[in-house]
This record gives sequence, structure tokens and C-alpha cells, in this order.
Amino acid sequence: MGVDLAEVSRVRHLLNRDPSRFRERCFTDHEWEYAHRFKDPSERLAARFAGKEAVMKSLGVGWRHVPWKDIEITGGGQPRVRLFRKAAKRAEMLGVERVLVTITHTGDQALVMALSLGG
Ligand SMILES: CC(C)(COP(=O)(O)OP(=O)(O)OC[C@H]1O[C@@H](n2cnc3c(N)ncnc32)[C@H](O)[C@@H]1OP(=O)(O)O)[C@@H](O)C(=O)NCCC(=O)NCCS
Repeated sequence: MGVDLAEVSRVRHLLNRDPSRFRERCFTDHEWEYAHRFKDPSERLAARFAGKEAVMKSLGVGWRHVPWKDIEITGGGQPRVRLFRKAAKRAEMLGVERVLVTITHTGDQALVMALSLGG
């Protein structure tokens, strides 16, 4: 299991400072486009940011070992997790077949819990 909490204001600050760098480093196209369906994308991006960290914890690794974009948290209804490259390899090594997340956010904070399940 893994959990993480993100401050929306911190994500908003990073977004305003250098949006293209933040996008390039942290978010997949799907995540970016989903968040930008909303007037203030910061809340959904904060949730994706927390979600990636929660998933990393559930896989027993940190961001030094798994790049942010190797984990995608989908948007639009029940969120789903897609793993790529190093994250997918780590999951395979652990025998993890499914990663579940649940998300909640307010204008201030986003909280995500993740659960990595074996066969
Ligand atoms: C899903 C629901 C309980 C979310 O609660 P909320 O207090 O409004 O908002 P929260 O911040 O706690 O949760 C938002 C997150 O819930 C998740 N969520 C949305 N729909 C979900 C679902 N069907 N199942 C599980 N999680 C869901 C999403 O991850 C969302 O975050 P995101 O937009 O960043 O991906 C609420 O929006 C709801 O009941 N919606 C009704 C959906 C519905 O019946 N739709 C009918 C048409 S399909």
C-alpha cells in the first residue's frame, strides 16, 4: 500500500513558473489533457502528483528510481493506473499484476491511496 498528500498551492506555483518543463518532467499527455478540462488544472495535477508518489510507495520505491512519467493516473470516472518502463519492470519483479488507486481533492490538498496486488 502507499499514500500521499499534495498541496495544491505548491503544484499551482510549479505550474505557473514553468508549465512546459513541469509537464515534460511529470505528466503524461492524458494526465495533462484531463487536468486542463477544468478551469484550474492544479487540483487534478496535484492529485496525479500525489498518486504517482502513492504508487511508488506501494511498489517500495521512490522518485529517484522511477521517473514520474512511468506512472500514469487516468482521469474521467474511476481512476486507473498505467505503468510504463521502469515502473512496469518493478511491478513485474514484485509479481504485481494490478495497481488500484483512490483519489480525493479539495482546493487545498489532494490525497491518494494506492494498492499493488499480486496474482
Ligand atoms: C465519484 C464521487 C463520489 C467523487 O466524490 P467528490 O466528493 O465529488 O470528489 P472527490 O474529490 O472526493 O473525488 C474526486 C475523485 O473521485 C474519483 N472518481 C470519480 N468517479 C469515480 C468512480 N465512479 N469510482 C471511483 N472513483 C471515482 C476521481 O479520481 C476523482 O478525481 P479526478 O477527477 O482527479 O480523477 C462523486 O463525484 C460522485 O458521486 N459522482 C457521481 C458519478 C456518477 O454517478 N456519475 C454518473 C454518470 S457515469
